[in-house]
Amino acid sequence: MSLHLEAKMGDVAETVLLPGDPLRAKFVAENLMEDAVCYNKVRGMYGFTGTYKGKRVSIQGSGMGMPSLSIYVNELFMGYGVKNVIRVGTCGAIREELKVGQVLLGMSASGDTNANRVTFKGLDFAPTADFELLSNAARVAKEQNINAITGPIFSTDSFYGGGEDRWDVWAEHGILATEMESQMLYTLAAKYGGKALSILTVSDNIVTGENSSNLDREQSFTDMMKIALEIA
Ligand code: HPA
Repeated sequence: MSLHLEAKMGDVAETVLLPGDPLRAKFVAENLMEDAVCYNKVRGMYGFTGTYKGKRVSIQGSGMGMPSLSIYVNELFMGYGVKNVIRVGTCGAIREELKVGQVLLGMSASGDTNANRVTFKGLDFAPTADFELLSNAARVAKEQNINAITGPIFSTDSFYGGGEDRWDVWAEHGILATEMESQMLYTLAAKYGGKALSILTVSDNIVTGENSSNLDREQSFTDMMKIALEIA
């Protein structure tokens, strides 16, 4: 038991997939994994452990944003012997050419969270994905003919606001997309000596206004999950 998880030691696998949406965790556990058992329902933030191709793996809702994700990831590392954390989520593309449904592998996560400014006393930590997880994900995508682009992403504490030119300087510096979790995920993995990766699908394009109503959501979701489960 930890403050926000009712799982017992041993209930959680060494590798945990982390969708923001707990119902997505439930869907994947029930449809893409075998023998999945629910270990957490506290606050409706479902967590399950099952197997995929014989490998033991867990999937845990993280909630939206870095404060929520930080609670679950800290407790998974501190209380349950977790070693690998793999986010599976959505992002808003900040480059015109990235279409809705595009799969991205987050190589680094810049961001605006004040939590890291406090932790690093105003200086800048550079949160990066684990090289082994990242290179395995890129290999699996290639083998499965999934078009996945590897590059830097940005994590923000504010979904709304910031004005028209908010993303210009980030796009000018090569950032592909924005979401709300990976900067903290990569930072916590570094803190606990674990491995982290974010696999994302573009749900909206902030430059063109395209959004996921015109996407074959199922296909890109399945592609993202396939990569995550294969490297788990
Ligand atoms: N901004 C932040 N997070 C997101 C977005 C976005 O546009 N789309 C999906 N997650």
